[in-house]
Amino acid sequence: MLDCSSGQVSPHQRPIYGRMYQTPFSDRIRQEAQIATMAVGAISEADHVNSVIAAGRADLCAIGRPHLANPAWTLTEAARIGYPGLAWPQSYEAGKPQLEAGFARERSLQAQSAASQERVA
Ligand SMILES: Cc1cc2nc3c(=O)[nH]c(=O)nc-3n(C[C@H](O)[C@H](O)[C@H](O)COP(=O)(O)O)c2cc1C
Repeated sequence: MLDCSSGQVSPHQRPIYGRMYQTPFSDRIRQEAQIATMAVGAISEADHVNSVIAAGRADLCAIGRPHLANPAWTLTEAARIGYPGLAWPQSYEAGKPQLEAGFARERSLQAQSAASQERVA
């Protein structure tokens, strides 16, 4: 599997930054070389990961700087999208149901608000 990062290890590079800015490299290598690839670069939400994978643009996504900002990024995003299947480190487990309940409430409020906007339209 090839991780498609353009480095950011030289001051001479001039990457064009934007959301999912390196995913086109993964997409092209995967289609043309027919090898498994990993996309990385400004992929910051689980929904982005799912859409990249579902569209066949990569086999895996890597998350770099969001993990530097929040080492529990993966656990947080799993709770945000309502996926309960990730095991938390035992000493942190008390935080899992509270985080999941908070995001479940947010999703339910968003669904109610979307439904009421549909009724108005
Ligand atoms: C601390 C750090 C070290 C990195 N080292 C490398 C590296 O050695 N080789 C490489 O190709 N990319 C390296 N990168 C770039 C990442 O692979 C990735 O392309 C970049 O961080 C964008 O992804 P992100 O938005 O998820 O952080 C590094 C990034 C960071 C933050």
